[in-house]
Amino acid sequence: MRGWFVFLLALLCTGPVAKGETASGQLLYAQHCAGCHGTDRLGGTGPALLPQNLKRLKPEKAARIIHSGAAATQMPAFDQTLSDSDIASLVALIYTPLDRVPEWEMEQIIGSHVAPGPESDIGGRPVYSADPLNLFVVVESGDHHATILDGDTFEPIHRFKTRFALHGGPKFSNDGRYVYFASRDGWVTKYDLYKLQVLAEVRAGINTRNLAVSGDGRYVMVANYLPHTLVLLDAADLRPISVIQVSDLRGNTSRVSAVYDASPRQSFIAALKDLKEVWEIPYSDDPPYYGPVHDYRVEGPIGEAAKFQVRRIRLDDYLDDFFFDLRYDNLIGAARNAKNGQVVNLIVGRKIADIDLSSMPHLGSGITWRRNGVTLMATPHLHESAISIIDTGSWKKVARIETLGPGFFMRSHANSRH
Ligand code: HEC
Repeated sequence: MRGWFVFLLALLCTGPVAKGETASGQLLYAQHCAGCHGTDRLGGTGPALLPQNLKRLKPEKAARIIHSGAAATQMPAFDQTLSDSDIASLVALIYTPLDRVPEWEMEQIIGSHVAPGPESDIGGRPVYSADPLNLFVVVESGDHHATILDGDTFEPIHRFKTRFALHGGPKFSNDGRYVYFASRDGWVTKYDLYKLQVLAEVRAGINTRNLAVSGDGRYVMVANYLPHTLVLLDAADLRPISVIQVSDLRGNTSRVSAVYDASPRQSFIAALKDLKEVWEIPYSDDPPYYGPVHDYRVEGPIGEAAKFQVRRIRLDDYLDDFFFDLRYDNLIGAARNAKNGQVVNLIVGRKIADIDLSSMPHLGSGITWRRNGVTLMATPHLHESAISIIDTGSWKKVARIETLGPGFFMRSHANSRH
């Protein structure tokens, strides 16, 4: 009897309240969040907000991010606009699964592919007189356009509408003729900088992070937040070659934070958001054998042997931000809230050192240079007014330079003393 009573009471109390909470969450979401995270929470300029993408984020932490924003990103603080109970209903909403998450596997990717037309002959000359190897491609994130600038005169040559919310780092073919764009909603565009027109397009995901072009110019790899996949494309016409499901050996899936080309190693390196692993995916026809200590997984196209097979490198911690040395022998990474940086040697496939790097180093924007026969690396910190200098031989911090405020990006030049 008593059990029933408690059950009924629970129903009466939580049922309608939970419903009302989601409804108000939905209204608030449409008003304040949909513009960046997508009307259906599948992502836009901001990432998809679905339970399967928030596994690493505790609800309390999500509430704090909504309240105070995320440092050095476009995620604004809502403490001035939303009450604590508003924020609570938004948190409840984003951890509620969608009735249906759209599928985006090989079939849908093939269906979206727009191949080059017969008129797209590869030959020809630029349709403008500027030096085609000295152009700027300016991605205008606010209004979804790109402008091609003459690098000598800084005059615009051409401006065109792009897909929605392009990633700011377009990638180029080695000859400089083609540029590859990835949009946050998964579209990959190959654009001809001679003819100033789109050559091919494909939608590789629903919520996409970035793409990399292989050093040999043959492949494009796309990193997705949704679904949890890496998608390999033929760089010539963006034809999909394979979809790699991203999960550990127990089947826990992960978003892919980013993929990079490691030309000296002839491989792609993928950083995973939700697993303590970094993946290396060789693209050379004759990939090196790393020995039986690694778990290989045959995911690549049949008949391709070891090419495109995933080499998993296990880590002590998540890699949220990282930096490669010039030869891609080492990866220096840090988790967002960790006390230390970790150095992962890609040749032996494991962590070889810890670096004392607190206060959120922004490793992705670090730089290296040679000084007295030693290669040094510098990184700014997002939460500290200082730059850390690290000796990449001993992996010790050798200097700390105070700055007037926290840093975001660093750049240098071979001819600069600074
Ligand atoms: C101006 C664009 C913008 C608006 C508006 C916006 N966000 Fe965000 N949001 C972002 C971006 C960009 C990120 C990714 C930040 C990063 O790189 O860490 C983000 C991240 C987040 C995260 C963390 C996700 C994760 O996996 O760590 C949450 C939670 C979030 N937003 C919730 C919301 C909610 C709820 C609203 C509405 C009240 C909202 N955001 C409005 C751009 C926005």
